[in-house]
Amino acid sequence: MSRLHILRYPDPRLHKIAAPVEEVNESIRTLIADMAETMYAAPGVGLAATQVNVHKQVVVIDASETRDKLVTLINPELVAATGVADCEEGCLSVPGIYEKIARAEHIVVRALGPDGQSFTMEAEGLVAVCIQHEMDHLKGLVFVEYLSRLKQTRIRAKMLKQQRQSA
Ligand code: NI
Repeated sequence: MSRLHILRYPDPRLHKIAAPVEEVNESIRTLIADMAETMYAAPGVGLAATQVNVHKQVVVIDASETRDKLVTLINPELVAATGVADCEEGCLSVPGIYEKIARAEHIVVRALGPDGQSFTMEAEGLVAVCIQHEMDHLKGLVFVEYLSRLKQTRIRAKMLKQQRQSA
């Protein structure tokens, strides 16, 4: 396993649209293992392949306190979404920024697992928010893009400054 480089906002590659995975094979399982290692090391509660510059529909999530409940979603589809949750979100691609975003409170998602088998999963609370956040990444959408233009401009400037300082 190896840790992968995480793209930082406003990198334009974060806006690429991920393609569906055609076959869940060893290279996809290696990608999943590397993404999980990268997410746990960061540490974060979720990571989309888009964030490591792989434009395939693969997401890993672990919102558990014990950090031992890895969920892998390949080609995820939202089957149902109800209610509204206003949750503070952060993102490994936008370090240090936390903002409230309105999301569905309860969702049902269908996806393939690492074994290539289709499954359906219900989620609420933090897990539901996390799944929606990661699925947005696959569509090229970063959570800060739900905010006002003014806030986005400020966040962009802050990120660029951070990146200049660490370069
Ligand atoms: Ni994110």
